[in-house]
Amino acid sequence: MTGAFVAFEGGDGVGKSTQVRLLAQWARENGIAATVTFEPGDTAAGQAIRRIVLDPATGDLAPRAEALLYAADKAHHLHAVVRPALRRGELVICDRYVDSMLAYQGAGRVLDLDEVTSVARWATDGLLPDLTVLLDLDTERAVGTIAEPDRLEGAGADFHQRARLLFLELAAAEPDRYLVLPAREPRRELAARVRERVEQVLSEVAGRIEP
Ligand SMILES: Nc1ncnc2c1ncn2[C@@H]1O[C@H](COP(=O)(O)OP(=O)(O)OP(=O)(O)O)[C@@H](O)[C@H]1O
Ligand SMILES: [Mg+2]
Repeated sequence: MTGAFVAFEGGDGVGKSTQVRLLAQWARENGIAATVTFEPGDTAAGQAIRRIVLDPATGDLAPRAEALLYAADKAHHLHAVVRPALRRGELVICDRYVDSMLAYQGAGRVLDLDEVTSVARWATDGLLPDLTVLLDLDTERAVGTIAEPDRLEGAGADFHQRARLLFLELAAAEPDRYLVLPAREPRRELAARVRERVEQVLSEVAGRIEP
């Protein structure tokens, strides 16, 4: 695999999609072939899965069922979108990835984190981003701004707090693969710091010797 895989993570409304857009724009302006994508839902099967998970009409969904639905979305998304783009040598910019599953299904819900981690690893066949940008924001400021919360956004302050702490723990465990940014800094400044790290990643990837 020759491309570079960059994921954006963080709670609801922290500015992930804004930074995804700014990075994609930079890639376009600099002639870097990029695939911009998101999880869950950026395939036909994924859309159906996302509908089940986010629709308030779903009501109480068994935590293991929810985790398996997310895992199914990831497995298919990697197969259909991410790996083909990496094989073409592209920069893959993904709005949410495995850490969101660990944060919301492992730390947020009642499931054992190690078990969710191994389900996620199996679903993705161990594919990790070259860089994960974590936009960190205290949860009251983030969730408080959402006017009509969907099923997950409406899940309560404790849930979002546990998820935030897990995102930070994952980042702290692997500082080389993460860039943690305070989400409410001016978006152009955040974008500049993201670009700096992505440029590093791209030059590392270019120097990688394929087996
Ligand atoms: N750095 C920033 N400072 C202040 N506001 C911001 C910043 N970045 C984005 N926003 C604003 O915050 C809101 C949410 O941004 P955005 O949609 O990018 O977040 P998100 O993390 O993708 O949200 P979701 O989890 O709902 O997909 C938007 O109104 C956006 O304009
Ligand atoms: Mg978004």
